[in-house]
Parts: sequence; structure tokens; C-alpha cells
Amino acid sequence: MRDNEILLKVEKAVNGGYGLSRTEDGKVVLIEGAYPGEEVLVRVKREKKDLIFATALRVLKPSPFRREPKCKYFGKCGGCQFMNLNYEEQLKVKESIVREAFRRSFGRDLDIREIVPSDGEYGYRTKIELTAISGRRIKLGMRMKNSHELVPIERCEVAPKRANEVIQTLPDILTALKVPAYNFSRREGVLKHVIIRYAFSTDQTMVIFVTKTESFKWGKLVSKILLRNLPWIHSVIQVMNFRDDVVLRGPYKTLHGEGVITETFDWEEFQIPPTAFFQSNYNVARKLMNAVFDSLNLKGNEVVLDLYSGVGLLSLRISSVAKRVIGVEKSRVAVKAAKANANINGRRNVRFLEGDVLKVLKGYDDKVDVVVLDPPRSGAGKKVMKEIVRLGPRKIVYVSCEPSTLVRDLKVLESTEYSIEFVKPFDMFPQTFHVENMAVLKKVDT
Ligand SMILES: C[S@@+](CC[C@H](N)C(=O)[O-])C[C@H]1O[C@@H](n2cnc3c(N)ncnc32)[C@H](O)[C@@H]1O
Repeated sequence: MRDNEILLKVEKAVNGGYGLSRTEDGKVVLIEGAYPGEEVLVRVKREKKDLIFATALRVLKPSPFRREPKCKYFGKCGGCQFMNLNYEEQLKVKESIVREAFRRSFGRDLDIREIVPSDGEYGYRTKIELTAISGRRIKLGMRMKNSHELVPIERCEVAPKRANEVIQTLPDILTALKVPAYNFSRREGVLKHVIIRYAFSTDQTMVIFVTKTESFKWGKLVSKILLRNLPWIHSVIQVMNFRDDVVLRGPYKTLHGEGVITETFDWEEFQIPPTAFFQSNYNVARKLMNAVFDSLNLKGNEVVLDLYSGVGLLSLRISSVAKRVIGVEKSRVAVKAAKANANINGRRNVRFLEGDVLKVLKGYDDKVDVVVLDPPRSGAGKKVMKEIVRLGPRKIVYVSCEPSTLVRDLKVLESTEYSIEFVKPFDMFPQTFHVENMAVLKKVDT
């Protein structure tokens, strides 16, 4: 055993997918690649005053729930972390991660409900983001674990079948037409990313080319040959994104077909444009939107604010019963789609405001009965939470894909007159450590 190596037993799983253990002198060690109950030899990667980050080098006593990962890139590709654990156990681990995050933050056990599983553990993703890699043969890759390097891939197990057909077909076309892949360090080239969006309910596939430059002279021909090979592709889009720090942003044009794909649910249908957010897992999104709706127990006279409303997924579901719904969203493309979606579904009691949630809330004084919010991973933040408290809704439903920012924001509410009724985790992202949650809060004096 070397100097920076330690033998440890994993106590439990914690947020970020780490196995938590302690050194003999009580220091907490967060181990990457180790599961509860395992004995592992770890290498220390980073040490802070009272915390060590480590990585599992060898598993001496493996969890009985380990399995062979289905994907040959597992361990190299940064996309999946839990694929070598059987699915039932992944669910248990995620539920315990949520329980632990709340216990640690609130100092008591809260009502954390049983995790809602995904109908399928593979092939579930509604969007796959790949990066073009230059070379004699152009390849498509994913980000490596803990690195900015790329792993070329020929297939992704969490991508739907249609997306994998595109991943297999496109590199030959790009290579034959000599499309220059963008080099991020030299800032040269054209094609940065290929993104594939898939609508499960309609079997529509959208292929998006993200380019550094406005001109993409290969676009029409790539699109034509791609369609000759895969005629079922619904739309091909070029997004012009000059910024290198975000993947999918910027003006776009349609190279083939419609500029949207459509997803239908039990009661509503949604048009999804290339650059707007949409939930990553269709069947879990359906369960989530129904759970949000059920938790509100609407009577029909409520005014509901849906913050971070995207293309209107939750707003429209809620508008089927509520008196009035106001969605707030900063992406112009998403707001435009949300308004179109309200029209398509014949909902006249929904309005969408384009703007930053905090700014909109600061100028908002009307009566609100319910607030639903579904912010990005960074959470809503203290100022937004305080504005919600000022509006005094009787119920708040907070949907989150990041437990650490969820508990941080809920602590702001718990210090006021709101109490957490229950939290329900959803497995929106099988094979990864990520977990979606819905927290339902009520105003104590109502
Ligand atoms: C996790 S998505 C939720 C979308 C929607 N609720 C759904 O279920 O499809 C978060 C959304 O918040 C938007 N957003 C992020 N920061 C924002 C802000 N400060 N103000 C308004 N919208 C914001 C994003 O554009 C994105 O559409």
C-alpha cells in the first residue's frame, strides 16, 4: 500500500454518487466508484481540512449488487456512474442519498417517499449531446470522467435506438464530406456538437448540428445524405453557437423538416424546439407531471405561478383545472413554444412571461394560491425563495434535479411559515447518480 492509499469500509452513499467512509481519526472520505458495505483500497485525490476525496483503486469486498456494465465505455465516459450496480439497488441507493441529504441538512428524518422508477433503465434519454472529434475519420464523443478529454463512442446504452442509428451513420458522412470539426483549444474549425433529440410518443427524431460559424456550407448535403440513409429523421437543424462554454444555445435554422418535434402525454401535447429544455426521460416526466398535478389537489379557483416553466410542461397540465396559470421563463425560444403549446391545447387560462424569475417576482404583487418551481441544477437561490414567501401561497411544489440546492433552498422556506409535507424522488436518470425530487410544502397557518 502506498502513502496516499487507504483501506476503507463504505458506510453509505451520499450526494454526488460517492461512497462515504471515515479514516481511523474520524475524517470523512468521499470515494468515487464504491458502494455501501464494500471494502475498498482507495487513492487520495484531494485533501481538505476535514474532508478527503478519493477514488476506489481495488474493491476487496464487493457489493453483492454489482454487475457487469452493459456499456463498453463505462468507467471512461463521464455519462454514467452506476451502470455496474443492478437497477433495484441503484434505486435504493438514490433513495438513501435523498434521505441522507435531508437528514444532514434538517437534522431530522423527513417524509421521503419511495422512489419512482423509470419504466426502462436503458434507451430512455430524450436528448444525447455529442462532440465532434477531428481526425482522418471524424468521430463523435462524450466527455471523459473528471476531464475535458473526449471518448469517441459508437453507441450509447442510455440513448434510444433511433439516436444510436444516427451515431453509427453520421461519422462516415461527415468524414466523406470533409466537414471540419471544431478544435476547442485552437479555436479552429466549424462543427462543434451533434445533438439528437427524440420524442418517444411520436417516434420523431431531430438531429442538431451546433456550429461555431454562421456559415455551414456542408449542412444541406450532410442532411440530404443522412436522410437518404435514415429517411425517418423528422428534422435537421443547424444551431449557430459562438460561445464555447455552453453547448446548445444560439440562433438556429432548419435544414430539413419541421423546426420542432412533438411529444404527447395523457392530456396535452408539446412542441419542442431545438434549443429549449425538455425533461430527459419521457416516461418519468409523465409520472412527475402527474405527481405534481395530484399533489396540488386543485379545486378550480386557484391562481398558480409556474416558475422556470420551459415549454409549459407543468403549466399546461395544471391549467386543465386551475383558474389561471402564469409561467415564468427566461428562454425566448421556450416561451414562444410554451405559448404555441397553450394554443395547440386550447388553454386560454395560461400566460407565459419571458424574463428572469427573480426580476419578474420582484415586480409581482397579485394574489397567488400555489407556486410550482422547477429551476436548473443551480437551484432558485435565497432571493427567489424570499420573494415566494412574500407572495404567501398556501402551497409550494419544488421540483429539482439537484438534492444539494434543493435542501439549501427549502431551508429558507422552513425558517418561515412553510413546512415540508413530503419529498418524492424520481429516477429520471438511470445508470447515473443523478436523482430528481418533488418536494411538497404547505403554509402552516392554513
Ligand atoms: C429544469 S428546466 C424546467 C422546465 C419545465 N418546468 C419543464 O418541466 O419542462 C429549468 C428552466 O428554467 C429556465 N431558467 C433558468 N434560469 C432561469 C431564470 N433565472 N429565470 C427564468 N427561467 C430560467 C431554463 O431556461 C429552463 O427552461
